[in-house]
Amino acid sequence: MCGIIGIVGNREVAPLLVDALKRLEYRGYDSAGVATIKDGKLDRRRAEGKLANLDRKLGEEPLAGHVGIGHTRWATHGAPTEANAHPHFCNGVAVVHNGIIENFAPLRAELMAKGATFYSQTDTEVVAQLLSAYRQEGLAPREAMQKALGRFEGAYALAVLFEDQPDMILGARSGPPLAVGHGQGEMFLGSDAIALAPFTDEITYLEDGDWVVIKRDLLEIHDRTGKLVERRRQKSQGAAYVVDKGNHRHFMEKEIYEQAEVVSHTLAHYIDFAEGRVKFESSLIDFANLDRLAMSACGTAYYAGLVGKYWFERFARLPVEIDVASEFRYREMPLTGRMAALFISQSGETADTLASLRYCRDHKLTIGAVVNVRESTIARESDAVFPTLAGPEIGVASTKAFTCQLSVLAALAMIAGRARGTLSAEDESKMVRALVEAPRLFNQVLTAIQPQIEMLSRELSRFKDVLYLGRGTSFPLALEGALKLKEISYIHAEGYAAGELKHGPIALIDETMPVIVIAPHDRHFEKTVSNMQEVAARGGRIILITDETGAAATTLETMATIVLPVVDEIVAPILYALPVQLIAYHTAVFMGTDVDQPRNLAKSVTVE
Ligand code: AGP
Repeated sequence: MCGIIGIVGNREVAPLLVDALKRLEYRGYDSAGVATIKDGKLDRRRAEGKLANLDRKLGEEPLAGHVGIGHTRWATHGAPTEANAHPHFCNGVAVVHNGIIENFAPLRAELMAKGATFYSQTDTEVVAQLLSAYRQEGLAPREAMQKALGRFEGAYALAVLFEDQPDMILGARSGPPLAVGHGQGEMFLGSDAIALAPFTDEITYLEDGDWVVIKRDLLEIHDRTGKLVERRRQKSQGAAYVVDKGNHRHFMEKEIYEQAEVVSHTLAHYIDFAEGRVKFESSLIDFANLDRLAMSACGTAYYAGLVGKYWFERFARLPVEIDVASEFRYREMPLTGRMAALFISQSGETADTLASLRYCRDHKLTIGAVVNVRESTIARESDAVFPTLAGPEIGVASTKAFTCQLSVLAALAMIAGRARGTLSAEDESKMVRALVEAPRLFNQVLTAIQPQIEMLSRELSRFKDVLYLGRGTSFPLALEGALKLKEISYIHAEGYAAGELKHGPIALIDETMPVIVIAPHDRHFEKTVSNMQEVAARGGRIILITDETGAAATTLETMATIVLPVVDEIVAPILYALPVQLIAYHTAVFMGTDVDQPRNLAKSVTVE
């Protein structure tokens, strides 16, 4: 998703804007630009591709000024060209935008009918043109902003410069996040706390519908009606984290290896180690009195939710209705009886997930959120927040957030089981002990399997299609493994329930289609072995991910057998995420793709 930065400063801002944009690179983008005001004149530099191109252009043609805005663009309307890159100008107005102005076409037609000339294919240019038109009608900046915002439908985070107001930036938020940073004699606007971290850790998050005026010594926040409002000023988390790769080649590799630490931190938040039991937070969601639990998320977070469904239903006997967020609310699921809804999101800003949350809130459900960003919109709009303590996840492919989400869901399933009297203290204690032991195994496993997986991935990178199979909680792992591989190596991959193989996908099996089977030696193992035999009988090449018991129990010839320690079934989905993450990572490295910022992808999808 796009990234926004604005600075009303007392020093040259162009390099500061670019530095802030570099901290927003993780969101995914395909062009970038900055604009400043100097001696009452607006000027800009824009470039296709990576920020290095913009940096180079600024080196060749420096941009002066102490007030400016910057943007990294993830293309929604119009190709990722320089002409479509932000900031967009129109008669002394400069605009950067994250989101989609859904009614941009009629607005563009209206403005063109009045003689406006457009220079880009973007929806964003309509914002600059409309503000300029209102200014030319004699409206002051604030009036023009209020009036223009009333015309827009869709989602936007905006930063606006007016050439005749050289010490002021206006901003607005409806959907994608936007925050104000409080400096010393400077004021900032940014998409998130990470972007603002180099300048300040004093942050004010805007609410949906807010618009702001910032000057060096002024912050005015208006709500949707234009009324002046106060919003909480808080210490940001973003500044606390050093966001760099350490001695790793990619953020994704670093984050894979951080999992032992961050899963430990996350488990510690929910488990009373002395007691050997989960911390019973009954005040958050009243699991004992629920008929059903609705769950919704996107992508990797959704696959974590699928694992959670098995656990809630098995250990708490709590029926779970789960769907991807982009479908959830359109099903018009009967949200009747005693229900709560749980949303899972690393960023806490995913538009589809947020829309599903609001749908459930409108139906008066208690809302819970498993999120990695405490100050995110989804967290702020939930009744109960269950944090994952993964720290900022920069790689677009989610890894440590996934295993932390699973850790939280395991704890919640046990809390629900205890609340509903379906989980004995003995079973809870056994599962807690297994979970507490898990992170210690992570680095041992990663070190043990890394060389084998590097070799295997070199072979995998030659194939065009890969199938992942799993049963029980290994089925969502198969879906996650396929997503990891396809989103960073661009190799087509599909995850399937192993039992479904003979209902269609087996037609695909031949020596050109490797089949990765996720199969700890659990109660599904024997049946999964039968599926592997069906694959082998058709010349399929198997990569088996199992444990020592499973490896000893099969005589099947495989392309590779990746052996993990035997673990409790509550730990298996968390531990088995490691090999599927490493397979995707090393395959992508061999493919030479942009591992941390894969093509077309964004870290936080703030448009529907
Ligand atoms: C996962 O590797 C992807 N980056 C993507 O599927 C992601 O999980 C999805 O967009 C949901 O994001 P969220 O957790 O921030 O809501």
